[in-house]
Amino acid sequence: MHKPILIIGACGQIGTELTIELRNKYGSDKVIASDIREGSEALMKSGPFELLDATNYAAIEDVVMHYEIDEVYLMAAMLSATAEKFPMRAWNLNMNSLFNVLNLAKDRKISKVFWPSSIAVFGPNTPKENTPQNTIMEPSTVYGISKQSGERWCEYYFKKYGVDVRSVRYPGLISWKTMPGGGTTDYAVEIYHKALEKGAYECFLAENTKLPMMYMDDAIRATINLMDSPAEHIKVRSSYNLGSMSFTPKEIAKSIQKHLPGFQISYAPDFRQEIADSWPSSIDDREAREQWGWEPKFDLDQTTAEMLKNLRK
Ligand code: SER
Repeated sequence: MHKPILIIGACGQIGTELTIELRNKYGSDKVIASDIREGSEALMKSGPFELLDATNYAAIEDVVMHYEIDEVYLMAAMLSATAEKFPMRAWNLNMNSLFNVLNLAKDRKISKVFWPSSIAVFGPNTPKENTPQNTIMEPSTVYGISKQSGERWCEYYFKKYGVDVRSVRYPGLISWKTMPGGGTTDYAVEIYHKALEKGAYECFLAENTKLPMMYMDDAIRATINLMDSPAEHIKVRSSYNLGSMSFTPKEIAKSIQKHLPGFQISYAPDFRQEIADSWPSSIDDREAREQWGWEPKFDLDQTTAEMLKNLRK
């Protein structure tokens, strides 16, 4: 029987689907959802929930003790676009929440941690195509700096204190159950909603901005597979590159037009263009494939078909 799991930030775009999937796998009462606000009806009905501020160590410790939590998935964070507007709040949330969870593991109050990193750890001086696992990083956004620092701290806690922390650098994630909030890759979700509502979308990135992306089902599978893998297979303790597909706004529009021939896209790049321009176009994820069997399943057209089918319901 699996020991209890705590998801912090369970009501967000990733947390919602991760919580439901882990509940399907281990049983509803084994997976405690928490967030600073309540989530979707589907999530709230699916099992236990605690209101929890990820920056409050004592509050997290209380929940961990009460439910005898063994593993924590820390999904609370301020994303790239919002973090540019509130740099200190982003730094505070993204770093303190991580220290809280790493310190619980260091003190052996929990035994395993998942913490997500991002393609945002890379920067303008990083090789753009097939970005390697180990390369120049130099992130230029507040969010990227917090994720890069977080990676260094994860590796440090693993080496110094033997903390079993595992991480992937998610690309932009595409899903239909919960909207993303405040990211630079959010356009790739919004576009499907607008395609069905209005038949048109004004994109905040330029037509040829190519970014790494992934369908949520693949991201959840990667996360759970990584956490299920034997510790000795996990050689990277900062964070794994994780690739799937790469596309531009123009290409996603074309994919949508195969289903909705009248769909129109226009472009009005804003401050998020500069963020997108600093990130990789494609990712070399060899380590994840070799060390714990990562393999993506959804390409762009399959993602489009799933998104349109589910959003129509
Ligand atoms: N999708 C995130 C963002 O755009 C990147 O991790 O901020």
